[in-house]
Amino acid sequence: MTLDDRTCLVTGSSRGIGRGIATELGRNGANVVVNYRSSEGPAHETVERVEDAGGEAIAVQADVTSEDDVLRMRDVVHEAFGPVDVLINNAGITQDTRFVNMTKEEWDTVLDVHLGGMFISSKVFYDDVREAEEGRLINISSIVGKQGNFGQANYATAKSGMFGFTRTLALELAPEGSTANCVAPGFTATDMLEQVPEQVKENILEEIPLDRFGSVEDIACTVRFLASEDSSYITGEVIDVNGGMDL
Ligand SMILES: NC(=O)c1ccc[n+]([C@@H]2O[C@H](COP(=O)([O-])OP(=O)(O)OC[C@H]3O[C@@H](n4cnc5c(N)ncnc54)[C@H](OP(=O)(O)O)[C@@H]3O)[C@@H](O)[C@H]2O)c1
Repeated sequence: MTLDDRTCLVTGSSRGIGRGIATELGRNGANVVVNYRSSEGPAHETVERVEDAGGEAIAVQADVTSEDDVLRMRDVVHEAFGPVDVLINNAGITQDTRFVNMTKEEWDTVLDVHLGGMFISSKVFYDDVREAEEGRLINISSIVGKQGNFGQANYATAKSGMFGFTRTLALELAPEGSTANCVAPGFTATDMLEQVPEQVKENILEEIPLDRFGSVEDIACTVRFLASEDSSYITGEVIDVNGGMDL
C-alpha cells in the first residue's frame, strides 16, 4: 500500500491525532501538508517527523474558520505540491461545560471550528478532491457524535453533524470516483484528553473493553487505509476506532 505522489492535507496536524496521521501518511510516501493555527514550532516538528518517516512535508499556518486563510493555504499548497488528492478535516477544539452553563459563544466557537472549518476546507479543496484520481475526503468525527457526552453538547452536536455532511458529499463526489468517509475515534491519548479530569478519565477507561485509551497511531492507520486505493469501494461510512466502546 503506497501513497507515493499523493498530496494529503491534514488540518490541525501540529500535534495529537493530526500529527500521527501526517507521520503515517509520510511513512507511506505521501506529500503532506501540515496545517496549524498557532503552534508553529510543533508544526515544524511534525514536518521533521514526516520527513524522517520518508515523506515530504510543508507546514502552513491557516485558521480553518477563516476562508481567506484557507484560500491562502491553497495557493501555498498548489505552489509546493500541486492539487490536493486527500483532504483530512481533523482540526478541533473543546469547550466543555454542562448545558445549563453553556454560553452561546461556547456553542458557536466549537461548531465554528468543527463544522465551519470542515465546510470551508472542503469547499476550498473540493475541486482538487473531485478531480483527483480517486480523491479522498476524510472527516475526523468522534464516538461522542454517536453517544453524546456529559458536558459536551456543543462538541457532540458538531461531531454528529459531520456524519450527515460526509454522507452527502459521498453522494456528490461518487460520480467522479472520489469518496468521503468519517473516522470516529474513541478516547485517544492527546492534549485534548489531558483536559479531562482524572476521575472522569478513570470512569471512561472502565467503559473500554480493550482496557486502554486509543493511541494516535490507532487512528492514523485507519486514516492511511481510507486514504489509499485499498478503500476504493468504501464511501459514506463512519469507521469506529474506539476499543469496543460501542459494544
Ligand atoms: N483526543 C481524543 O480523545 C479525540 C477523540 C475523538 C475525536 N477527536 C478529534 O480528533 C481531532 C484531533 O484531536 P486531538 O485530540 O489531536 O486534539 P489536539 O491534540 O488538541 O490538537 C488539535 C489540533 O487542531 C488544531 N486546531 C485547532 N483549531 C484550529 C483552527 N481553527 N484552525 C486550524 N487548526 C486548528 C490545533 O492547532 P494549534 O496547535 O495550532 O492550535 C492542533 O493541531 C479533533 O477533531 C477531535 O475532535 C479526538
